[in-house]
Parts: sequence; structure tokens; C-alpha cells
Amino acid sequence: MAKSKLTVNGTAQEVDCDPATPLLYVLRNTLNLKGAKFGCGLEQCGACAVLIDGEPVLSCVRAVSEFDGQNITTVEGLSENGEPNAVQRAFIAESAAQCGYCTSGLVVATTALLKRNPQPSREDINEALADHLCRCGSHVRVLKAIDRLAAAGGSHDR
Ligand code: FES
Ligand code: FES
Repeated sequence: MAKSKLTVNGTAQEVDCDPATPLLYVLRNTLNLKGAKFGCGLEQCGACAVLIDGEPVLSCVRAVSEFDGQNITTVEGLSENGEPNAVQRAFIAESAAQCGYCTSGLVVATTALLKRNPQPSREDINEALADHLCRCGSHVRVLKAIDRLAAAGGSHDR
């Protein structure tokens, strides 16, 4: 056991666990943040994506010790005063989910994409979401949600 110091959704956390524990397990099981999901456990589906210093990272394999001292944002940390942020609102408006298992990963990845590129091309979007699988086939609606955000031209906060 060892202590890992993380900042999660703006709050400093000190977690006592095996340093090899995957970050996702710490977020879900120790910090009770259930937004990021365990899908494949093999970095192949995107369900576990979180932001590390603003960049999307798959959290199901990499050890918590790798993230010592870093800023982690989960989907829970994207909301603004308890309300959905612009990306979440666009996903809701376009009904861009069915079971919702993939959704937090997609919202996290989309938030990071639009932050660095407010008007992404389809190629940019495909590249940014390449790690994200949706077994329910909501991809078309996800693209519509992102198109809606891109049409707004980054004029709103995310
Ligand atoms: S659970 Fe991490 S990529 Fe699938
Ligand atoms: S909405 Fe069910 S896996 Fe994507």
C-alpha cells in the first residue's frame, strides 16, 4: 500500500492503495465517482475516459501511481453548478445515447476536442473519438450533437 495524491474534480484527494491499482478502480471504488465506466478493461472501448490536465486518457489499465500530483476531471466534474455543460446539453438535445454506457467517455472526449478545436472537421472528430465504441449505435446522434456544438462556433463555454 502507498499513498497517491490526486486532484479530482478540483478536490485534493489522498488515496491509500496498491500503487498498481488502475486509476478507474480508484475513481469508482474508492472515490465513488461512477461516471467513468468499466467496459473492456483493455483500453479498447473508451468507456473509462477521464481528463488528465485537460487531455482524454483511458483509465482502466494505467496505474494510479502514474497520476500522482495530476489534475483529473471525470464526467461528474464537467457539470457547471450541478447543471449539464454545453456538451452534455447537446448530447441531451440530440438524444445521443441509448443505454448510456459509453456516454461519459464520449462526453469527456468531446469536451477535450472542442476545447482545443471549437470547429472540428469530420476527420478531426473521427480521430478524437476513434477509441470510443458504442454498442447501441448512437454514433450518428453523437455526430449530430458535435455538429450542433461546432455550429455554435465555440461561442459558449464548455
Ligand atoms: S474500459 Fe477502458 S477502454 Fe474500455
Ligand atoms: S449508448 Fe449504449 S453503448 Fe453507447
